[in-house]
Amino acid sequence: MTSESLDNLKKAAAFRAVEFVRDGMVIGLGTGSTAKHLLAAIGEQVRAGRKVRGVPTSQETAALARESGIPLIDTEDRWEIDVAIDGADQVDPDFNLIKGGGGALLKEKIVAASAKHFIVMVDYTKQVSVLGGSFPLPIEVVPFGWGSTAREIEALTKGRVVLRNRNGVPFKTEAGHLIVDVHIDRIDRPGELETALNLIPGVVETGLFVGRTNTLIVGTPQGVHIFHVPRK
Ligand code: 5RP
Repeated sequence: MTSESLDNLKKAAAFRAVEFVRDGMVIGLGTGSTAKHLLAAIGEQVRAGRKVRGVPTSQETAALARESGIPLIDTEDRWEIDVAIDGADQVDPDFNLIKGGGGALLKEKIVAASAKHFIVMVDYTKQVSVLGGSFPLPIEVVPFGWGSTAREIEALTKGRVVLRNRNGVPFKTEAGHLIVDVHIDRIDRPGELETALNLIPGVVETGLFVGRTNTLIVGTPQGVHIFHVPRK
């Protein structure tokens, strides 16, 4: 499948996600190429008179939301998010995710955690039987002593840790942290791994989103499939 066709599947999923948006809602706005389609679609609704406000998960998303005419709320204020809508890099059969390919995982997790409803939009190639393998797990770490934090991550995961670079220099997140991408063959117990990683000093947040998805929207060549995850 070409990247253009995959992008069309992301767009189809994003257009279905917009059906969950209602007047008066505060919406958590995800980051990435799928979220970009979402912002365009919400912008269209806003121009048609829909009253919503957004909480952006990155500066890139904030800029796109402004371009689309979506009003944003002050992100340093206390908020109540009705629905957060975001993409993902991998989804397993229990609707657990790997996120953070775009480096926005910290804000994305804060927003997903504080939303009443978390909707995930993906194209079908993101669905995997077990997390890990083809996609490394992004982990946001504090720059101070990052090498020893990485060593602890390596010892825990038995994975290979690679410091994320952009244009030949270490990638810095919006919060000024680093990202290490951890190559792990398979993540059989994502919940346990997330908890253990968060106990390592220097780890700010991980790209594992466990037990957070309420609705999964998957764009496939046969059409868009929507799964509602029962609350545990
Ligand atoms: C950014 C993310 C994105 O949601 C994830 O990388 C998916 O991106 P895309 O929609 O471009 O495939 O987690 O931090």
